[in-house]
Amino acid sequence: MHNKTLLHNYSYRFIYLMMLISGIVSSNVNAQTSSCNQNKQDSLFMSLAPTPPMGWNSWNKFGCNVSEKLILEMADAMVSSGMKQSGYQYIVIDDCWQTGRDEQGNIIADTLHFPHGIKYLADEIHKRGLKLGIYSCAGSLTCQGRPGSRGYQFQDARQYAQWGIDYLKYDWCSNEGQKAEAAYKTMSDALKACGRPIVFSICEWGENQAWKWGKGIGHLWRVTPDIRDCYQCKFDWGGLGVLNIIDVMADLYPYAGPGHWNDAEMLEIGNGGMSHDEYVTHFSMWAMLAAPLMAGNDLRSMDQETKEILTNKEVIDIDQDKLGEQARRFIDMGDHQIWAKPLSNGEIAVCFLNRSDREWNLNYDWKKHTMYFATDINIYKKEYMIRDLWQHKTIGTTNHSTIHVIPGHGVLMVKLSPKH
Ligand code: GLA
Repeated sequence: MHNKTLLHNYSYRFIYLMMLISGIVSSNVNAQTSSCNQNKQDSLFMSLAPTPPMGWNSWNKFGCNVSEKLILEMADAMVSSGMKQSGYQYIVIDDCWQTGRDEQGNIIADTLHFPHGIKYLADEIHKRGLKLGIYSCAGSLTCQGRPGSRGYQFQDARQYAQWGIDYLKYDWCSNEGQKAEAAYKTMSDALKACGRPIVFSICEWGENQAWKWGKGIGHLWRVTPDIRDCYQCKFDWGGLGVLNIIDVMADLYPYAGPGHWNDAEMLEIGNGGMSHDEYVTHFSMWAMLAAPLMAGNDLRSMDQETKEILTNKEVIDIDQDKLGEQARRFIDMGDHQIWAKPLSNGEIAVCFLNRSDREWNLNYDWKKHTMYFATDINIYKKEYMIRDLWQHKTIGTTNHSTIHVIPGHGVLMVKLSPKH
């Protein structure tokens, strides 16, 4: 019996040895180790954007006119304006920083406009306590005809990591009929393997419904064509105004959450195309929608009104709430809408959106409508304090109707906190 067991053990070891030599066992071990690494990489990646990313992007205001000088001045302005202190951290160079590839296929930055190279820029940005983002495209060419990353995804990701890049916006021009999910997954895999945490911003304009597959591949995904600096407008070639984007976002709340966000597009606040009330609406609704807050104006020359909008900490806190819920439109009366966003610690943000040109004489009885989706909010049983997040003051409690005149195209944005 004993001998039989020994024999059995020896034959087992022999088979194991043969398997080792032939590579069957070792490849299994490798596969286990790499799937372990894969899990680690995935969970690190997933943790990179627990709240919607905040920063500044060059495109809306400067288009192709990007340079080292501009980017550094913008970083300085982000610090001196108080934006950094309000939570903004990414400075993103959009299209046109790249001019070609060298013989080894390495991407080359425009040496005229970025004389010290991208690594220098990243170091300078990091010295200011900020992070640097860059732009590329899943196609062979970017939207401005610069070299894209198709066929170079891993090489580019390694290069970004060497430079010290923290954020990649990845566009969808010249995509040459690729499958979007696969194309974005390739770059996502490359970023996960590049050895540096890099936030991944998917920019396929909602054409392939990235919200359905983007979680785990990227941290944010555009849901529309490009924003235009207008309140309500729609261009044949794809530009959309603020209200038009809000309407697309309305149904997408199930897809947002910590680590993965519906990207309502970069902000136009301060670019001059809308009124003050419209810009307040733009910022309020982006915060309600838990959208990334990427300023798109010239931070060096902001007027006081623009600065006050972009640095309204009470509104930013709604956007950045750690529960990561996107607001729902729970009452839609056409021109007049009421949006609500449950917050952590039993609070709730409510935004009365006046889409019409005329004033809305609001007289709102809190007991009349149930916020049916927010189970722990009970306006019948509890009394809530109501804080106006633009006037920065308490304006009553939910035991009394709220009476307020909301300007045309404006909002009343409040936070309800249980009264103790
Ligand atoms: C596309 C994107 C924009 C911008 C430009 C740059 O239109 O949607 O946000 O990045 O390309 O060319």
